[in-house]
Amino acid sequence: MQSFSAFFAKSFLLLSTIFGFLSIAVTEEGFCIAPSIIESNSNAETLYSKVTNPTLSPTHLQDLPGFTRSVYKNDHALITPESHVFSPLPEWSNTLGAYLVSPAMGAHFVMYIAKMQESSKSGLPPKHVERFVFVVQGLVTLTNVSGICQTLMVDSFAYLPPNSKHHFESYESSTLVVFERRYAYLEDHIPEPIVGSTNQQPLLDTPGEVFQLRKLLPTSLPYDFNIHIMDFQPGEFLNVKEVHYNQHGLLLLEGQGIYRLGDSWYPVEAGDAIWMAPFVPQWYAALGKIPTRYLLYKDVNRNPL
Ligand SMILES: *[C@@H]1O[C@H](CO)[C@@H](O)[C@H](O)[C@H]1NC(C)=O
Repeated sequence: MQSFSAFFAKSFLLLSTIFGFLSIAVTEEGFCIAPSIIESNSNAETLYSKVTNPTLSPTHLQDLPGFTRSVYKNDHALITPESHVFSPLPEWSNTLGAYLVSPAMGAHFVMYIAKMQESSKSGLPPKHVERFVFVVQGLVTLTNVSGICQTLMVDSFAYLPPNSKHHFESYESSTLVVFERRYAYLEDHIPEPIVGSTNQQPLLDTPGEVFQLRKLLPTSLPYDFNIHIMDFQPGEFLNVKEVHYNQHGLLLLEGQGIYRLGDSWYPVEAGDAIWMAPFVPQWYAALGKIPTRYLLYKDVNRNPL
């Protein structure tokens, strides 16, 4: 049975699509009256569907007892969908989470998938921890401390600076990928909350490379990490064979290819997550018939000392 709020959210979405208007509304006792919609791709229904419904995994291999493509080494990890273990997320209601990267691996951040179910609500990260959320499936409403709410569709994202009160709500089921990190304060620089959509971010120059690059956060000093969206046509690959001090958390959103990590070459596909420790040699080539898109966490703007 559909709840009133779900019906309301849907009707609003329809209306705003028809009239093409954007508005922002203030909540009354936490109820989101008329959230502004973050414009997104029109094909949001199928976009990134492989992340939550991976079909490229050969099922005969998945069915082999004890078989997994997942790998965990001291400088990298590949966490494939059949290895995800979901459990209730602390502080969130009606939400199951699977942590894919955590400090136990050597990372200074966490990366997790949050599966929000009907009438679910997020909790806050710990004190001094910043949060980045990207919608891979469904529709969520973000309400900030002023009671302003905005609706985030697939391909939309939000950045919440440390200690900023907010919550995400989902009326039906939604899937998010979330990054959290203890913020590295820098004197006289204060990060601002950000809400946006991938397709509204400009394409950036990538000298010597063929892939397309978008950055979802400003490159300015207040931000101690960025999230890159990288697109490759089948057959394209990275020219650089990077070895650097930064760490990465990666989620493959579309496509398939080969990821090199250290001395290993891994076949990967949409839904796979990768952890890269500092200085692990890394390289990617896109294969198959559809373009690759991946989302990549990278720490920036801070002295590694
Ligand atoms: C809440 O969100 C609105 C819309 O994005 C923004 O204008 C406002 O500054 C935000 N309030 C705070 C306290 O972040």
